Amino acid sequence: MLRLPDGPKIPSLPMDKLLVHGNGPLKGSINISGSKNASLPILAATLLSDQPSIIRRVPDVSDTNYMLQILRALGAEVERSSGTVRSAPSEISPEAPYDLVRKMRASICVMGPLLTRVGRAKISLPGGCVIGDRPVDLHIKAMQGLGAKVDMEAGDIVLSAPEGLVGGEIDMRGKHGPTVLGTDNLMMAAVLARGTTVIDSAASEPEVVDLANFLVKMGARISGAGTRRVVIEGVDSLNGVEHTIIPDRIEAGTFMVAGAMAGQGVTLKRVRADHLAAATSTLQEAGHIVQFNSDGNEVHISPGETPRGCDISTGPFPGFPTDMQAQFTAMFATTPGLSVVEDTIFPQRFMHCSEMKRMGADIKVDNGRALIRGVSSLSAAPVMASDLRASAALVLAALRAHGTTEINRLYHIDRGYENIDEKILQLGGNVERVPD
Ligand code: EPZ
Repeated sequence: MLRLPDGPKIPSLPMDKLLVHGNGPLKGSINISGSKNASLPILAATLLSDQPSIIRRVPDVSDTNYMLQILRALGAEVERSSGTVRSAPSEISPEAPYDLVRKMRASICVMGPLLTRVGRAKISLPGGCVIGDRPVDLHIKAMQGLGAKVDMEAGDIVLSAPEGLVGGEIDMRGKHGPTVLGTDNLMMAAVLARGTTVIDSAASEPEVVDLANFLVKMGARISGAGTRRVVIEGVDSLNGVEHTIIPDRIEAGTFMVAGAMAGQGVTLKRVRADHLAAATSTLQEAGHIVQFNSDGNEVHISPGETPRGCDISTGPFPGFPTDMQAQFTAMFATTPGLSVVEDTIFPQRFMHCSEMKRMGADIKVDNGRALIRGVSSLSAAPVMASDLRASAALVLAALRAHGTTEINRLYHIDRGYENIDEKILQLGGNVERVPD
């Protein structure tokens, strides 16, 4: 029976809802927060050293706060003050608490650090979720490739490597392309393994590169991060370090779409142009104006005079991100012409379409693709948030709709968007967070 942590549980989030009063143009500027998807593996990676690490610009969202609870439950001393987290994992236990792990799939990324530091790990199998099947076969293949024994016991993955891990060559490609967190887990396990590990078909997302940069600061020996082939030379131990998380490219992309479909000149600060190429080129192809400053850390978006529909097919970085397709679907819903959005990574990730159709959108979902015919306007309706990015897409659609849209189950958005209502208000939007 898993030992559940005593101490504070995650407070169950109130069923807040968001009232979005549409049609007010957004303008002005906001700061983009640190990346949720870089923070989660980097917080897990602090477990690789018995010395404390300081991580800055960790967004205050429920997913990162779940990860802090998991680190505490594993025995690390963890403090957060605003965006700065201090994690001191001097002594850690190998059992990730079921009560927390089941709530967030990304908690799987404590697997690699626990196994390589403690020699064993017990992680509950993450549940499925609305964007589709979320297998972990590649994570298990990675750990076995480093010599770990892996068993399934009553819904838990039980891993052991009493003699330590040994480097190997492992391919991380699944039927839908490379796995991001699988690459992260393998990299984190390999840094303390004996010998050399080669990751083939590695994910090259900016968040994977940020993790690799953090590990190298700790003393790991990694080359090729950001390419499909990463080579890791194992070392004996790692140090605690300080690190600042990269900007959240998905939050930035979400607000770029807001500026294109409901803005009159929106500027986003603390971005990285090199992480936003796919969203930028698609917005420009759709006829909108996107301009970065010379440093590439600020971007200004204005709606084009004659926006037009276009086609998107998601793919691994540097392709179009699956985490951005719902937001673009919201934009295409009121863009003249026909647009086709295909998700090759999560073919079922179209929950937002039925909610947008309640607002008057003309969308047909068929076989991993959404066919969107732009309509002149959307009308407000009570809608249900479902997953993180689908919920953000509903906020965007509501900003363009006539009337007041009520978005229920706001906790989905709070998982990954830091103070989204305050940011929209700062841009002149008219939103209200109300308890259900
Ligand atoms: C990361 O999830 C992101 N989450 C997701 O963002 C993102 O959608 C996804 O990468 C793809 O870019 C975090 O970084 C915390 P995958 P991850 O393993 O790593 C299949 C958000 O909205 N697969 O790259 O869990 C899988 O089914 C979230 O912020 C296997 O087949 O995704 C999918 O089709 C949602 N076997 C494809 O690979 C495995 O063992 C890519 O998944 C693992 C994955």
